[in-house]
Amino acid sequence: MIIRAALPREIPEIVGIEQIPEYRSYIGAWSAEEHFRAMADPDNEYFVACSEGAVDGFAILQGIESEHHSVHLKRIAVRTPNRGCGKLLLEYGMSRAFLHHRAHRLWLDVFETNTRARSIYESYGFRYDGALREAILRDGEYHTLALMSLLDREYSARQQQGVNAVTSAVRL
Ligand SMILES: CC(C)(COP(=O)(O)OP(=O)(O)OC[C@H]1O[C@@H](n2cnc3c(N)ncnc32)[C@H](O)[C@@H]1OP(=O)(O)O)[C@@H](O)C(=O)NCCC(=O)NCCS
Repeated sequence: MIIRAALPREIPEIVGIEQIPEYRSYIGAWSAEEHFRAMADPDNEYFVACSEGAVDGFAILQGIESEHHSVHLKRIAVRTPNRGCGKLLLEYGMSRAFLHHRAHRLWLDVFETNTRARSIYESYGFRYDGALREAILRDGEYHTLALMSLLDREYSARQQQGVNAVTSAVRL
């Protein structure tokens, strides 16, 4: 598996992953036009995990030019869960945010019911920052978002302990 910058021609595959019906309770979904606009924005970074020419997953960083050095992991999703792809994408996103973009803070929001994603973020040192109570209305129901973040010094400490080691096995 390779993780690299996404290409505009891969947007249909990204849209296809976002629209997996079970993900509707966990992530937003944009139109292809919205993705084209977002991908062209220099404040955003898209990357994909690929194998055999197909997109297995993607992630989007926003705010890479933030004056506050606060980068937002806007979205992350994989085509087939529980095969390790999400962790690779997250590690790559963390390395881009902290090592390349020199972020001070990497933050995200996650549906509080998304136990898989939350446990992954926690396992990478993200801390709970609070909740946006009933902030999202979807299919007639309000959903609460948990806010989580990781700071540069926390990332560095983990790097020194060698705990973010999955990507060493991946060609980046
Ligand atoms: C969240 C997501 C990106 C993670 O990617 P993934 O490829 O499925 O994750 P991985 O296979 O790398 O890792 C899964 C880990 O979660 C654990 N896990 C799986 N289901 C779980 C659950 N219900 N509760 C807690 N942990 C769970 C697995 O045991 C594994 O941890 P381990 O490696 O320590 O055993 C992916 O599942 C996804 O696209 N989900 C739908 C979209 C989404 O929720 N995006 C996040 C929005 S904030």
